[in-house]
Parts: sequence; structure tokens; C-alpha cells
Amino acid sequence: MKILVLGGAGYIGSHTVSELVDAGEEVVIVDNLETGHIEAVNPKAKFYQGDIRNREFVDSVFDNETIDAVIHFAANSLVGESMTNPLKYYDNNLYGTKVLLESMVAHGVDKIVFSSTAATYGEPESIPILETDKTEPTNPYGETKLSMEKMMKWTGVAHGLRYVALRYFNACGAHKSGEIGEAHSPETHLIPLILQVPNGQREAISIFGDDYDTKDGTCVRDYIHVTDLAQAHILAVKYLAEGKESNVFNLGNGVGFTVKEVIETARKVTGHPIPAVVSPRRGGDPAKLIASSEKAKNMLGWKPEHADLEEIIASAWNWHKNHPNGYAK
Ligand code: UFG
Repeated sequence: MKILVLGGAGYIGSHTVSELVDAGEEVVIVDNLETGHIEAVNPKAKFYQGDIRNREFVDSVFDNETIDAVIHFAANSLVGESMTNPLKYYDNNLYGTKVLLESMVAHGVDKIVFSSTAATYGEPESIPILETDKTEPTNPYGETKLSMEKMMKWTGVAHGLRYVALRYFNACGAHKSGEIGEAHSPETHLIPLILQVPNGQREAISIFGDDYDTKDGTCVRDYIHVTDLAQAHILAVKYLAEGKESNVFNLGNGVGFTVKEVIETARKVTGHPIPAVVSPRRGGDPAKLIASSEKAKNMLGWKPEHADLEEIIASAWNWHKNHPNGYAK
């Protein structure tokens, strides 16, 4: 199959491209390199630099390539930024997807797998979270991702397009080669920030609140290895290629770790004492987010293979210690 990966130079996109290439698929990458990195573009894929909001550009890619399915990662994904600059999220995430879907419909490309998020749920009513639970996002990032799901649903009703929305929980870890990994600027995610301490880039890690109703007072999250996420995209493309109907799947390990537990595991992995300082809560953080991924396991045949937190952090450390500044030299 020839698969178009939008946002293939980003964190989860580049890991998915790597798995696709290893599986023998033909891959075409589109990325505007706004948050993606040229160094993360897989040399075995064909690369077009451009923006999905540009209809002419997107049309030209579909004109040049006979695409069987699209995997769509091209979006902004920072919760905090979405609160201060919501229209950036409506523009890139929603308008970008609208242009993409128009071009797909015009070119008869009818299968798309895309990055959705646990942020579509908002504050959960019960744990673990099921795909059928209520979706009430508490920030524009989650809101735009939920609207992207709905845009695909109604485009499907009108034009026969089928989609799989993958609602990721906390993506983390890095490729086993140590050649690609997480590189955000600014970095806001817990594990890379923790690892800046043993890397000598930060004195201590801040714990955002220790008065939550959890076992040690810090927030609980479901950390899922990026390579396991990547595998789920391949299975989702296969699912659609088999003619199955549009669907939504959670992707997580179904196990929650507190912020303190993640820091403790990082101490063990790195052998560094990693001082931690309790700071005020960060606005909009739910106390506990844990996925039920039974649906993905049953319907996609997905099975996370790197579920051990120590292994996840060791893979991240293998990347960060050799690339303390991400892809920058
Ligand atoms: N945290 C700290 N200190 C830090 C950074 C984070 O204590 O320096 C805490 C956060 O408060 C949170 C946990 O670590 O409790 C994880 O935070 P991340 O920022 O790593 O991840 P989030 O759970 O906030 O966000 C993730 C994804 C988002 C997605 C969201 C769904 O990164 O894309 O889950 O709620 F939207």
C-alpha cells in the first residue's frame, strides 16, 4: 500500500513512518516542519514540505501519488497553548483537516487514520475511560480534536470516507535505535522534563500539585510507548483496508502511574537523584486518566509490547542523553 503520512516529521508521526517502512509499506510524508524536524524524516519515504491548509499543495500531492490511505498527525497539540491561542488550533487542526478532507474526497481517497486524544473526554466520570464515555473537552485542543472526529464522521456519511480516530493517552518513549525521539520546543511533557535533570539542563523537576485525590496526591496518567502507538496506526489502516466501518479507539496501557512514581522510576533508570519540588497545580489537569483499550485489543488485535514503565523511560533516556537538544546540533 502507498500511505500518506501527514505530520510524518513529528514525534508520533516519525515513529509511525519507521514502523511502516519496516513493514514494507510505501510511505509519502507531508510536513510543514513547523513543529516537525527535517532530521526525523525517514530517508526511505518520499517527502513533500508543505502545509495542509494549502489546498493547491495538498491537491498536488494527491495528483502526483496514488494514495491508498492517509494517516493524519498534522496538528498542534499543546493544551496550555490552546488555552491562550485557541484560534491557532481551530485554524491548523480544524481548517487544515477540512482542506485535507475536501482534497481526499475530490481524489477518491476514502481511508484515514488520525490522532485523537484523551483530551476529548475532559474530566472523566469513571476510570478506566471507555470510548462510549461522555466527551466534554476542557480545552480548545481537545475540542478541536473532537470536532475533527465529527468532521470525518459527517464527511463519511456524505461521501463514503471511512476513518479511525485513535485517542492516545500519554505518548512517551523513543525508538529503539535511539535515532528518533521526542523533541518539542518548548517542552511541556513530564518524562522529557524529568530527564533534563540528569542531563544537566534543569536543577529539579516540579511536581504540579500533590493534593489530588490519588494514592500519593500527584496526578495519575496512562503512559504508552510511542512504538506501540505507531503499531496501532498500522493495524488501523489494515482494519479500514479490510472494509470495516469507521471507529474510535482508546490507546493506553490501562495502568496508571503517579507523577511521583514516574520520577522514582526515572531515578532508577538514570541512577541520578533527580530532586523534585512540589509546585502549585497546573490549570486544567484532571487527577486521573487511565484508558480502557479493550476495544482496540479486541477489534484491531493491538497489544502494547513496551508496557513496562522502566522500559519506556529507559528508551526515552537512551534518546535524550544522546540528543540533549533534540535534533538541534
Ligand atoms: N507534570 C508535572 N511537572 C511537569 C510536567 C508535568 O508534575 O513539569 C504533571 C502534569 O501536571 C500531569 C502529568 O505530569 O499530571 C503529565 O503531564 P504531561 O504534560 O506530560 O501530559 P498531560 O497528561 O498533561 O497531557 C497528555 C498529552 C496531551 C493530551 C492530554 C490529555 O500530552 O496531548 O494528555 O489530557 F491532551
